[in-house]
Amino acid sequence: MTFSEIKIIGVIGSGTMGRGIAISTATAGYNTILYDIADEIISKAKVSIDKDLQKGVDKGKLTAEAKEQILNRINFSADFNSLASSDFIIEAAPESMELKRKIFSDLDNICRDDVILSTNTSSLSVTTISTIIKKNPERVIGMHFFNPANIMKLVEIVKGDFTSDDVIKTTTELTLAIKKVPVLAKDTPAFIVNRIARPFYGEALRILSEGTADVKTIDAVMKNCGGFAMGPFELMDLIGIDVNFSVTKSVYDAFFNDAKYRPNFIQKKMVDANLLGRKTKKGFYNYE
Ligand SMILES: NC(=O)c1ccc[n+]([C@@H]2O[C@H](COP(=O)([O-])OP(=O)(O)OC[C@H]3O[C@@H](n4cnc5c(N)ncnc54)[C@H](O)[C@@H]3O)[C@@H](O)[C@H]2O)c1
Repeated sequence: MTFSEIKIIGVIGSGTMGRGIAISTATAGYNTILYDIADEIISKAKVSIDKDLQKGVDKGKLTAEAKEQILNRINFSADFNSLASSDFIIEAAPESMELKRKIFSDLDNICRDDVILSTNTSSLSVTTISTIIKKNPERVIGMHFFNPANIMKLVEIVKGDFTSDDVIKTTTELTLAIKKVPVLAKDTPAFIVNRIARPFYGEALRILSEGTADVKTIDAVMKNCGGFAMGPFELMDLIGIDVNFSVTKSVYDAFFNDAKYRPNFIQKKMVDANLLGRKTKKGFYNYE
């Protein structure tokens, strides 16, 4: 698959990341199929994307006509088979190796064998995902966007052990075409940014659990004195406590229980209580 042959992009998962990715591809002019597992979930994604684009219109960054064109380029689907017409896939389903391998195996069955299959995984091995593919495992690649995906520029392009140079070239060209900044990374646990960010969250959680300072104080110190755009707790709420916890667990596991990456019981308690951050309107902060 060469870059110029890409006309239709399939995005799998219409959560925090899938929605932002679909806005980016549709804004760049690509017909986009946004897939999720149930009608009610995909309908919610449509409402959320509409609202997001409307904010752009209200701020004068987008015309009402452009908003409609972007929306019209997105086919909101709860039918997995609709992804069969895609030329390029970006998978943004939950961070579970078992789930991602199942999705990639199903894609192997329905997509043409020249279709590039990319994953937005934050921490899982692209190589391990690719080994489920029977037809051309060299077409599997990591395409790691940042949150919010329609705004953040960086995309880590992750080369699995079997990823071909042609697939890296096409994915890099597509990343540039959707107005992002690609950076190439090897397939090591959590790649570049998330690897560096793990201790940022982990130490903040330890400081909190030891009672050294509260959430607001830690965030304020990191922002006002440390120069960070967001504090660790604001960022965890934005990412999703469940997503952040899954990523931490998989990085801890991938580094054979290195204490540096150990998850924190605060995250587990919050996930069990469905305090997932902005998406449930309650996390370290209240968004109601
Ligand atoms: N949240 C972040 O800040 C962030 C940043 C970069 C990468 N990621 C990665 O992106 C991926 C998605 O994260 P998210 O934050 O969007 O999660 P999310 O929980 O917001 O959304 C996941 C979506 O996947 C759907 N889903 C569940 N099972 C599915 C299946 N079998 N097939 C298709 N869709 C399915 C869910 O219904 C949901 O809409 C994860 O791999 C995560 O690690 C997340």
